[in-house]
Amino acid sequence: MDKNTIDAVLKKIQDTETAAGNPRTKAIVNRIVQDLFYTIEDLDVQPEEFWAAVNYLTEAGRSGEYGLIAAGLGFEHFLDLRMDEAEARAGIVGGTPRTIEGPLYVAGAPETLGEARLDSDGEPGELLFMQGQVLADDGKPLAGALVEVWHANHQGHYSYFDKSQQEFNLRRSIRTDAHGRYRFRSVLPIGYSVPPNGATDRLLKQMGRHGTRPAHIHFFVSAPGHRKLTTQINIDGDPYLWNDFAFATREGLVPKLVRVTDPAGLDAHQVDAPFASIDFNFTLHAEQATLPDTEIIRPRASA
Ligand SMILES: [Fe+2]
Repeated sequence: MDKNTIDAVLKKIQDTETAAGNPRTKAIVNRIVQDLFYTIEDLDVQPEEFWAAVNYLTEAGRSGEYGLIAAGLGFEHFLDLRMDEAEARAGIVGGTPRTIEGPLYVAGAPETLGEARLDSDGEPGELLFMQGQVLADDGKPLAGALVEVWHANHQGHYSYFDKSQQEFNLRRSIRTDAHGRYRFRSVLPIGYSVPPNGATDRLLKQMGRHGTRPAHIHFFVSAPGHRKLTTQINIDGDPYLWNDFAFATREGLVPKLVRVTDPAGLDAHQVDAPFASIDFNFTLHAEQATLPDTEIIRPRASA
């Protein structure tokens, strides 16, 4: 079809709109419909392909995997890059890089001051201590900042979504001490893949892609008067470190992992086995009223 004919159809559809409704929704939906009409035309999409896609979207919705699909198709990373760009235009550069939240945060994790233990007794995996400070962008420590941390277990599963784990296993909220310090004990997470044969897996296979993430730990870091940071650190050495299906690995988010084996180190941490140790500071930027908010409102699980 020629462009004039397609545009005439689009206009006919849009002309059915009244003054009622939501202008923002109208603008976005009309643009998406226009782009898809042209996709169908340009790629000569056949009716069977179109209805297969509609059916796929229905199944993907039922499976609850749209959060994974959004990450896998790069949308979540793209939103991060757009936020980086908005901040850069306002003169905000440096600090701890943001990266994707993913769909597996659960609100309401127990909060403690200064330090926390994330793992349950007998949690399989290599013991980990991670510690550091939350800093303002002038380098001053931020006392009373909130470090929300969550990560997968030794099988790559998250508590709440994996009902075999205790409530809030490997999830805590840590309030920084007077020196802006946080510290936690846990076990090293491993990487994980999207559910086998699920909606995300089937889509990625059609794209000739894998659905694996390297081992990582998620964080929200917030303090009054500062821009909330959503980020992750990666566990160095993971074979998928720079091959994340969700595009979340970024320079500056791969801290050095040290293995502590000396008796004095073990004594200091009151443990009797060697452990992994990660030092990492989070630097937050001062809030600027003109910038898009980094406190992103979206539906999240809540235990
Ligand atoms: Fe994750």
